[in-house]
Amino acid sequence: MRGGCAGSVSGMDSAPSPAPGAAPAPQRIGVGILGGGTVGAALVGLLDERRAEITARCGTEIVPVAVAVRSPDRPRPGVPAGLLTGDAAAVVADPDVDVVVELIGGTDPVRQLLLAALAGGKPVVTANKEVLATHGAELFAAARAGGADLLFEAAVGGAIPIVRSLRESLAGESVQRIMGIVNGTTNYILSRMTTGGSGYADALAEAQALGYAEADPRADVEGHDAAAKAAIMAGIVFGAEVTAADVHCEGISTLSAGDITFARRLGHVIKLLAIAERVDGDAIAVRVHPAMVPEDHPLASVRDSFNAVFVEGDACGELMLYGRGAGGRPTASAVLGDLIDAAANLRRGAATGPGPTAPARIHPIGELRAAYYLALEVIDRPGVLAAVAGLFGRHGVSIRSMEQEGLGDQARIIFITHVACESDMRATLEDLRHLEAVRQVGSVLRVIADE
Ligand code: HSE
Repeated sequence: MRGGCAGSVSGMDSAPSPAPGAAPAPQRIGVGILGGGTVGAALVGLLDERRAEITARCGTEIVPVAVAVRSPDRPRPGVPAGLLTGDAAAVVADPDVDVVVELIGGTDPVRQLLLAALAGGKPVVTANKEVLATHGAELFAAARAGGADLLFEAAVGGAIPIVRSLRESLAGESVQRIMGIVNGTTNYILSRMTTGGSGYADALAEAQALGYAEADPRADVEGHDAAAKAAIMAGIVFGAEVTAADVHCEGISTLSAGDITFARRLGHVIKLLAIAERVDGDAIAVRVHPAMVPEDHPLASVRDSFNAVFVEGDACGELMLYGRGAGGRPTASAVLGDLIDAAANLRRGAATGPGPTAPARIHPIGELRAAYYLALEVIDRPGVLAAVAGLFGRHGVSIRSMEQEGLGDQARIIFITHVACESDMRATLEDLRHLEAVRQVGSVLRVIADE
């Protein structure tokens, strides 16, 4: 299938030269694309639209050779029918495929396909957070062994250059904490609840109608999508293997309109955050949960389906990366950047540095220290507040502020605590659930940067 060589690019400043003694550089880079959905079609489109610029930039033409899909007989808008095939393994093994781009998603059969590509020394570009957050260590080991690139800019934050910024631009930085809004669906839902006054169910239905949320929205609303991205970011920032199983994960499906209203009244907005931070020297705490974010924090202004990652480093101070976290063309843009990198590296006979090589020491969630918001529904009668406050005191959790709203002969009490240990807060909640005057323990939210 390999065609003639690309137009002359000699003299292009940005075109890399092969290293002395390296194997001859390919005259044309053939790309095998696994997955022909919206991102795959957008990638084929961008490769066509930008052909001249891409050739100039990497010194060689990048040409799609095949697109593997489940039903190759079904036409795909934007993908020439002649590229479609049903055999993904054959695409990986095709000698005309120099780089494998994986856009299928999930772990099976993707893991085997990627391992086969890397074992054959073929660079892999993937947008698949799940396979990286589950089998990252194995895939990085295969990339090292095969001397091949494993690039995944599109796996976190779509078009936003988060991976490259964390891995390269901030390589010399001592990062203390990253906090990301890395799931557009949940950010859209929370934005609608905050500014549109919608309840959770209506906001979710709206997100589904707009195509942000899947028919089965659990991966997004229960935080699993964000947890995979948190694991990937933590691995890069802290240079250690972190898997999705290491990430404490809570979603947004139990949040009420009342929580949103109270948060606003207290000068906060509620966001689903993916947080990775260094604790006690070399331990890493990684978690995903809804949190109250002060309205003047940069993350509070990230609305609708946009994503952002806020980084706190020793020398760089605070910075934030912001943009589109999903969608065909935004995600394809990040894939294309990786593809150009992989092509340039192939021409140089080099590969991007290895991934993490040692497991992280994960800080247990029970030892987290945070301030908490807690909504309680109680019977409104003398002595109830004293009994409730007594339980906080018994577990060493100090109350910072309290507000009561009447609901007939019931009342809702909102507490904000000082910074406390998570295990003490959990013990308090357990006792509160057994207190006869407590009708319901509502949402429990951590409060960001509150003291
Ligand atoms: N479902 C994700 C989101 C995009 O809503 O941001 C893919 O990770």
